[in-house]
Amino acid sequence: MFNTTLKSALRFLTVGLFSVLLWNACKREYIETDPVCFQRDVQPIITSNCTQSGCHNSTDREKGRDYSTYDGIMRDVEPGNYRQSELYKVLVTIGPEVMPKSPYNRLSKDQIRTIATWIEEGATNDSCAVSTCDTTGVMSYTTRVKPILQNNCNGCHGGTAAAGAGIVLSAYTSVKISVDNGSLLGSIEHTGGFSAMPSGGGKLANCDIAVIKKWINAGAPNN
Ligand code: HEC
Repeated sequence: MFNTTLKSALRFLTVGLFSVLLWNACKREYIETDPVCFQRDVQPIITSNCTQSGCHNSTDREKGRDYSTYDGIMRDVEPGNYRQSELYKVLVTIGPEVMPKSPYNRLSKDQIRTIATWIEEGATNDSCAVSTCDTTGVMSYTTRVKPILQNNCNGCHGGTAAAGAGIVLSAYTSVKISVDNGSLLGSIEHTGGFSAMPSGGGKLANCDIAVIKKWINAGAPNN
């Protein structure tokens, strides 16, 4: 008798706890305070994570969607309302509709927050040209190089690099392989003899190239 009461009390508590957790998870806000720009912040994430071969690029147009252009992306965006935007909904949903689809990784919380903030700010095709490019001092792999690769390359080259010909750029040791054979710099500088990267997108910002180049010239340390 006592046992049964205890069990149901426990079940009640467990269910209650999970509901609260779930409710909080659903309420999580993805807005950040810094202004976000389409060309500098949002487009690289989408190019890297959504336009792989067989996905939402201008040739394959999976589900009729071409995310290689601003206009194509805007089809799934309600400016000023990220919660109503299909683009946002598919990133945060739980279940088989989630994008990017397996075997590609989900976007990071920071990347989702960037996209949500951009939508909430009106989803304009703005650039926020970088006015200063800080390449003084030692370039750190962790704080300078890795975030560039994460946002521009690792939709294809992260994890098992399923969409990046098996070339992994999400871990230092494998990045170093591409540094040492010259293909990392060759591909981002669009040097003849190397495939121009990011594939399907424009060139990296000059500042990003300068940061990576300085880091490589210093011996590409794991710093
Ligand atoms: C949309 C997918 C995609 C994105 C984004 C992408 N790559 Fe690639 N990358 C590929 C594919 C596919 C290949 C292999 C086929 C080829 O060479 O085009 C490749 C090849 C490479 C190679 C080998 C090139 C060579 O000539 O040996 C390097 C290095 C590389 N990528 C680096 C990068 C870097 C750095 C970025 C980000 C700035 C990036 N990639 C972004 C898909 C992508």
